[in-house]
Amino acid sequence: MRTHKCGELNKDNLGESTALCGWVHKRRDHGGVIFIDLRDRAGLVQVVFNPESTDTFAIAESVRSEYVIRVEGVVRDRLEGTINPNMATGEIEVLVSHVEVLNESETPPFPIESEIEVNEEMRLRYRYIDLRKTSMLEKMKVRRDVTRNLRNFLDDQEFFEMETPILTKATPEGARDYIVPSRTHPNSFFALPQSPQLYKQLLMMAGMDRYYQVVRCFRDEDLRADRQPEFTQLDIETSFMNEDKIMAIMEDMMRNLFKQVIDVDLGDSFPRMTHEEAMSRFGSDKPDLRIPLELVDIADEMKDVEFKVFSGPANDPKGRVVALRIPEGAKLSRKDIDVYTKYVSIYGARGLAYIKVNDRNGGLEGLQSPIVKFAPAEVWEAVLEKTGAQTGDLIFFGADKTNIVNEAIGALRVKIGLDLGLLDGGWKPLWVVDFPMFEWDEKGQRWNAIHHPFTAPSCSEEELKANPGEALSRAYDLVLNGTEVGGGSIRINKTSMQSTVLAILGIGEQEANDKFGFLLEALKYGCPPHGGMAYGLDRLVMLMTGSSSIREVIAFPKTQSAACPLVDAPAVINAEQLKELHIKLHKPVVKEDA
Ligand code: AMO
Ligand code: AMP
Repeated sequence: MRTHKCGELNKDNLGESTALCGWVHKRRDHGGVIFIDLRDRAGLVQVVFNPESTDTFAIAESVRSEYVIRVEGVVRDRLEGTINPNMATGEIEVLVSHVEVLNESETPPFPIESEIEVNEEMRLRYRYIDLRKTSMLEKMKVRRDVTRNLRNFLDDQEFFEMETPILTKATPEGARDYIVPSRTHPNSFFALPQSPQLYKQLLMMAGMDRYYQVVRCFRDEDLRADRQPEFTQLDIETSFMNEDKIMAIMEDMMRNLFKQVIDVDLGDSFPRMTHEEAMSRFGSDKPDLRIPLELVDIADEMKDVEFKVFSGPANDPKGRVVALRIPEGAKLSRKDIDVYTKYVSIYGARGLAYIKVNDRNGGLEGLQSPIVKFAPAEVWEAVLEKTGAQTGDLIFFGADKTNIVNEAIGALRVKIGLDLGLLDGGWKPLWVVDFPMFEWDEKGQRWNAIHHPFTAPSCSEEELKANPGEALSRAYDLVLNGTEVGGGSIRINKTSMQSTVLAILGIGEQEANDKFGFLLEALKYGCPPHGGMAYGLDRLVMLMTGSSSIREVIAFPKTQSAACPLVDAPAVINAEQLKELHIKLHKPVVKEDA
């Protein structure tokens, strides 16, 4: 149907006959001449209709935005003064000799290119139109480049691309499962994989040595900007490598990816930080190192002050009291501080005390704050000293249970860093290592795995049993600008260690056999030492395209409530299907016409 793509034409094609197909992006009538910007995946080109050719001109007059047309014509120079330097094809145009309307279009629900903000529900409802935008096309191109680049790298390194089942059994990664009923096995259900974790381990046991997969994962969890119920991982597993070797290959892959796809240098060697240090300095296990603000512990200084809000947590082994110095923060208004106080309350903070340092050498007089009266001058002097405060700074305080302080002040650090434009440097990758194996769940009164239950500890089985709370794991997360883009670990490869970990997690022998019997058995038949990692592909592309959400880089994402407004899923199914699946609804559907 066509000889060229619209966006590909340039001066090299001058004088050539061409046939083009595409969408009517914009039509302009100019003193008897009609110009159409014709659009295809390669871009836009201006096509021109002269009134002399009456038939083609009449058709050109009738077409509307988003009609699909085919034109034949000759490539020619644009007239002096009509060259468009902002357009790749801006030096040429096509003089049309023949036009056909391949299909008409109703007026689109929103314009393809415009500054007007279209609400997301609408964009997703008509995603096939939304994807016509240049900005969306660019994102999809980067996504294509990313997967292509990663595949090439891993293929060169002799990784096998292999597929694993989607209809499977629960794989615990900390979320709820999506469940699929079985027609052929009454009362039984498949689970969609939260990740291919156990299959990739079985592939190592099968001797596949190096595996990867670009794979859809399913997690029924609370959605956020960087979380979707179905998302894509680049999933990787290797045998006979320790964590240093795995991390070295993974770094090479990332450096190569960023250099080749977006021409960014990620640096020679990514820094590593222990989980403990990350929590202490940044209140987060995924610190954004572009932001030069840090949490400073001041519990020692606050143990004896009369201000209970501070002395309480300072004397509580599970409490934390921190200061966060904001350089030149004294210029923040009462209103700004109120906004931040509200912000930290999302994370459970009950307040946000602050001090403005109006004069660093002015003693108590130099400090402006509702709380200075609650502690003697020496205490504040020690705090100023510890935080390195200077005249013109502001110090925020957080005091509560450690996890609340970390979450609230950790998030505040990022928010203020972004609000005040304190970012230092463009790309800051970081390995976070030495995670604890478990965290104590107060509510459930049990241990939970921090990574997943198949992660190897860095201590012996005896030490693990004796003190699960102290044990560290051989897990590593890759953090980029405050987003966890990937995570992995060395795995347990001995049955007894695996059983011990499951027992610590409160999974009894019977339950362990029901859920993971196949794994415990497979470990007995020559399981090599192995480990690996999985990247959130959507998150990587989000960062690489500067998008605000992973929804922007997924062709057909779900809404915040985990639905697809385009095809209208999830949907009710009919009584016959339910019967076949042996399902009786707890809340039967009320028929509208009943
Ligand atoms: P993990 O659960 O850390 O590890 O997941 C790996 C990476 O996947 C991305 N990710 C998500 N992206 C979008 N939406 C979600 N709901 C979502 N959940 C996770 C993150 C994360 O770093 N099997 C292990 C990996 C391993 O040990 O090899 C796993 O799945 O970027
Ligand atoms: P109050 O005495 O409760 O009015 O609190 C005095 C100041 O301490 C106010 O600025 C509060 O926002 C702040 N504040 C209260 N609770 C906390 C807390 N847990 N952490 C930090 N600041 C707090």
